[in-house]
Amino acid sequence: MTIENMNVSEENTVYPPNPALFNGTAPKPWISSLEQYREMYKESIEQPDAFWTRMALDNLSWSRPFTKVRQGSLDEGDVAWFVDGELNISYNCVDRWAEADPERVAFVYEADEPGNAQKWTYRRLLQEVCRVSNVLTSFGLRKGDTVAIYMPMIPEAAVSMLACARLGLVHTVVFAGFSASSLAERVQDAGSRVIITADEGLRGSKIIKTKAIVDEAVQSCPKVERVLVFRRTGNEVAFNKDRDVWWHEATDKQRPYCPPVPVSAEDPLFLLYTSGSTGKPKGVLHTTGGYLLGATITAKYVFDIHAGDVFCCTADIGWITGHSYVVYGPLSLGATSVIFESVPTYPDPSRYWKLVEEHKITQFYTAPTAIRALRRLGDSWVDKCDLSSLRVIGSVGEPINPEAWLWYYNKVGRGNCSVVDTYWQTETGSHVIAPLPGATPAKPGSATLPFFGIDVAVLDPLTGKELEGNGVTGVLAIRKPWPSMLRTVGGDHKRFLDTYLKPYPGHYFAGDGVTRDEEGYYWIRGRVDDVINVSGHRLSTAEVESALILSPSVAESAVVGSPDEVTGQAICAFITLKDGVSATEEEVKKELVAAVRKQIGPIATPKILIIVDDLPKTRSGKIIRRILRKVVAGEADQLGDVSTLSDPSILKVLIEKVNAVV
Ligand code: WT7
Repeated sequence: MTIENMNVSEENTVYPPNPALFNGTAPKPWISSLEQYREMYKESIEQPDAFWTRMALDNLSWSRPFTKVRQGSLDEGDVAWFVDGELNISYNCVDRWAEADPERVAFVYEADEPGNAQKWTYRRLLQEVCRVSNVLTSFGLRKGDTVAIYMPMIPEAAVSMLACARLGLVHTVVFAGFSASSLAERVQDAGSRVIITADEGLRGSKIIKTKAIVDEAVQSCPKVERVLVFRRTGNEVAFNKDRDVWWHEATDKQRPYCPPVPVSAEDPLFLLYTSGSTGKPKGVLHTTGGYLLGATITAKYVFDIHAGDVFCCTADIGWITGHSYVVYGPLSLGATSVIFESVPTYPDPSRYWKLVEEHKITQFYTAPTAIRALRRLGDSWVDKCDLSSLRVIGSVGEPINPEAWLWYYNKVGRGNCSVVDTYWQTETGSHVIAPLPGATPAKPGSATLPFFGIDVAVLDPLTGKELEGNGVTGVLAIRKPWPSMLRTVGGDHKRFLDTYLKPYPGHYFAGDGVTRDEEGYYWIRGRVDDVINVSGHRLSTAEVESALILSPSVAESAVVGSPDEVTGQAICAFITLKDGVSATEEEVKKELVAAVRKQIGPIATPKILIIVDDLPKTRSGKIIRRILRKVVAGEADQLGDVSTLSDPSILKVLIEKVNAVV
């Protein structure tokens, strides 16, 4: 394992918690001083049972109280929380608020076409969730069965998740940008008998043939018995009467109440697939009680959500960010959550800011790639909108560079908001390193300090020895279990142990490099494994390589991340061709781009494709990706030790080829 590009930023200006949060018109922040944070953090580490008992009882409603807070360990990989407690997530997220205040808005749905916002009250949400639960029961599904959800960003996607949770069904949401073969792989792995989808999707006025993709996927999923189809655009789609069921027809027949099924805190809630170092995506498994508690209290403290707040997270429901901060976190707090179906530049680059203005959004959460792209398009789009409702603006998915942070702070926040740079992962379930708006002084580019209960360790990547004190750089690990951590990899517990717990015994290994600066602030340095982060989306190099190698023209492929100003990293693929390929380079490249899009989806499209005669290899034939990474980063002068190369003469040609395209 190597850690590259470890240059610590010189940018060390400190931004104290924004005084505007304390001006008396805004609600007083839940955590309102650094001392208060430190005290609570100390308790969470030193007296975890007392701390987590209080959090779990104050923030969630239990149908059967737990008597044991934690059991198991990171050494054994048998972690469990609130084991004998029972609860229902849909009750916590919906019924609680529908009973207390039925007219409160749960979702604001901002459709692709502007000017059509729809408001869903908690009463309506409860009724629709119940109807869908009853439909799922009528399909013969029972507690523990899995349901795949492949839907656009519409309220019905969230309704589907909550309807599963109401019955103790395990949902597996697949991002609707994934191809038919990626969808099929996930449906098969999860063993889902039912898929919930829509006729079509709409993004920036472009039609996505959602149902047609499902039809293609189902051809290789013999176990799928039912496809429930929500009518989004109303255009005609193929319909298999023996298998497909229209959402509106099925729900019309159902009663708008369904009793929530109490489940164990440790019963599975969902599987969510994410890329790892190898080609096959992992189904990260989260359970009920610990996950909901993590999503709830991070939403509360990191975004400082109070009654009446309108929270907007722009992530798709197909990612963990959408699970935790479009659906479960905000609803568990009884807040209003915005579901945004469109893209930031449709119909023009003021879409986000008009959204904030129109719905008086109080917290806005997006990705650095969107911030950088919008910054490039000029200030006028943001300057002309009234953003005075905002108090907290968040960033997630990859390190945010100080320039983008400052633009976000000054232009979007108008200097009156706290920026929260939140570091976490699909596996962690909720934020693990993040500032608290009323407490933590921010440094642009740093995710700042650990959240409650997260015991961060910086380890020497080679020896695994802990690097104590401040001013250290190594790999990021977590020393104690926390409630919302993944429990296993679906169907492959050994892979869970091997990936996360075995590399540094006694620790959870996150896969990122990190610096703890002189003041104990954390600066995430990016992945130390073969994972590429494109616009905050994780892709494994092996996954893209496997897609490329399916092409009949390709002999070998090596994929690396190259630095990109907007997307953070971009996919750069090196290819060698088989003998006798007669197609031109342009034809081959076109075919390869199409192959990757078909195999994985548009997010995996290589930005740079370089056809070479030979790849840098060791004498035993292993491709040395480190050299490729350096060359595409423009650091060919810092290749380090190249003595292991079997044929050093290929370097010159390689560098020339790269310089010609990058
Ligand atoms: C990886 C996790 C859960 C967030 C969405 C992505 C990178 C995430 C940050 C941040 C620096 C970040 C890490 C991490 N990452 N947030 N604030 N600063 N890096 O979830 O797909 O599971 O990816 O995203 O490399 O390991 P994911």
